[in-house]
Amino acid sequence: MLEDGQRLIMRPIQPNDVDRLQRSFKTLSPHDVRMRFMHPLKELTPAYARQLTRIDPERAFALVLVEAKPPDQALIGAVARVALDDDGKEGEFAIIVGPEVRRYGLGRHLMKQLIAWCRQKRLDALYGFILKENRAMQKLAEQLGFEIGPTDEDTGVVLARLTLD
Ligand SMILES: CC(C)(COP(=O)(O)OP(=O)(O)OC[C@H]1O[C@@H](n2cnc3c(N)ncnc32)[C@H](O)[C@@H]1OP(=O)(O)O)[C@@H](O)C(=O)NCCC(=O)NCCS
Repeated sequence: MLEDGQRLIMRPIQPNDVDRLQRSFKTLSPHDVRMRFMHPLKELTPAYARQLTRIDPERAFALVLVEAKPPDQALIGAVARVALDDDGKEGEFAIIVGPEVRRYGLGRHLMKQLIAWCRQKRLDALYGFILKENRAMQKLAEQLGFEIGPTDEDTGVVLARLTLD
């Protein structure tokens, strides 16, 4: 329960989230979409939504925060995911918290869940790519102990990397 009374349920993403994910995507601004996907994306096609909701539990982990409403009305308020590299030694994260529920500490909470999953998998590191202009995500990553690398001037992206013991 958030301070303003909104209730969200945290659970792993599941294949039947496809519609919910597509509906929720439509509520995002082009700016938010660019921050998350690094490029403009007009819609979440059914194929891409299916790909995002079908997780191989050995190689990936994805959590959603879903509104506590009837299933056909509930929107997804946030998604956080990590996917293993091909060699299985490091994981790459991606996260988005919807504008209605930002600055409640949910991004931090979800990132901590991803870190815990990576530690349990005994990964060497967790990393993610963040647009240079995305100060919010860089600050969140820094607070969690990620090192922020230099900007790749060609892409305008920085690498955030957390070495895991
Ligand atoms: C970045 C994002 C995930 C943060 O989610 P959130 O739930 O609002 O973050 P939290 O409330 O947990 O904030 C944690 C810390 O992040 C930093 N932070 C978050 N939003 C910020 C903002 N708008 N400006 C500056 N710092 C910010 C703060 O340091 C904050 O700690 P504090 O509240 O103690 O000051 C969210 O803004 C988002 O989804 N943005 C669009 C998509 C995106 O950028 N994804 C990341 C792609 S790699």
